[in-house]
Amino acid sequence: MEVKTISVIGVGPMGSGIVQVAAASGYNVIACEINDDLLKKGVASIFKNLDKLASKEKITAAEAEAIKGRIKTTTTLEDTAKAELIIEAATESVPIKKQIYSALDKVITPDTIIASNTSSISITELASHTARPAKFIGMHFFNPVPVMKLLEIIVGHNTSDDTLKTAQAVGDKMKKVTVICKDKAGFIVSRLLDLYLNESIQLYDEGIATKEDIDNGMIYGCNYPMGPLALVDLVGADVLLAVMDVLYREFGDPKYRPAPLLRKMVRAGKLGRKTGEGFYKY
Ligand code: CAA
Repeated sequence: MEVKTISVIGVGPMGSGIVQVAAASGYNVIACEINDDLLKKGVASIFKNLDKLASKEKITAAEAEAIKGRIKTTTTLEDTAKAELIIEAATESVPIKKQIYSALDKVITPDTIIASNTSSISITELASHTARPAKFIGMHFFNPVPVMKLLEIIVGHNTSDDTLKTAQAVGDKMKKVTVICKDKAGFIVSRLLDLYLNESIQLYDEGIATKEDIDNGMIYGCNYPMGPLALVDLVGADVLLAVMDVLYREFGDPKYRPAPLLRKMVRAGKLGRKTGEGFYKY
């Protein structure tokens, strides 16, 4: 199926990045949020990024304006139905996602594909909450979406070949490197990365080293672009906790137990960059 318009549900750090990349790749985009404030915040961050790219002469001012012009916004879920592909980038919560899919099923055509940007929840389970399991797939982007080259595509138990081909074609048009993964909790990247991030929090909590030394250990010892605690702040402690909870529940293996300090930070609202404080202050 040829995709011309992509709707993105949720314009937090991930959703806004997906909107930007989709519009920059020539797609018409409908960006949807639950209220005007969140919508304005998400769109402002996209426009700021585009202006920055133009000021650094990575794109022309005219290109930035054309990309902005391809982005429509709405707070009404029904408006997203005009797209051939809907990428859901809402909170990592099955009940919230389920509510979105039930509302979508009432207004979208049988051909419309729904993709979830979930970083850990079973695609087969999410698909079971829709009336279109064959037209449901995981499209997992990475933060910051305009910079990170990977798109992890997760094939659910009932995902059709046609849906997979469409997701791959969209990834190609977005100039992402796509990897394909079967549906198992955490897929490829979250299963590996989040275990490491969780352990870095445990290590910090044990007082083994300062946060700066833990981060520098991995930056200078392993050539990682940033340290694990700074990366938790970028990803969001709430997002990491949601993934660890899924991994722990799905595998029942204690190695996936969320670090107690991670849970405490989420309870304290210290989620990282998006709340102005996590392991570091922003
Ligand atoms: N949005 C858009 N562009 C951004 C950006 C953002 N939020 N943050 C940085 N950039 C751009 C900068 O503008 C800069 O562009 P130019 O080279 O064109 O000037 C470039 O990225 C490099 O940025 P900086 O020079 O400011 O800093 P840096 O070299 O340290 O790179 C980084 C920043 C790209 C974030 C880098 O540190 C990095 O790659 N970190 C690891 C990120 C990572 O692992 N992400 C995956 C997280 S897991 C995930 O996302 C999965 C999930 O489900 C949550």
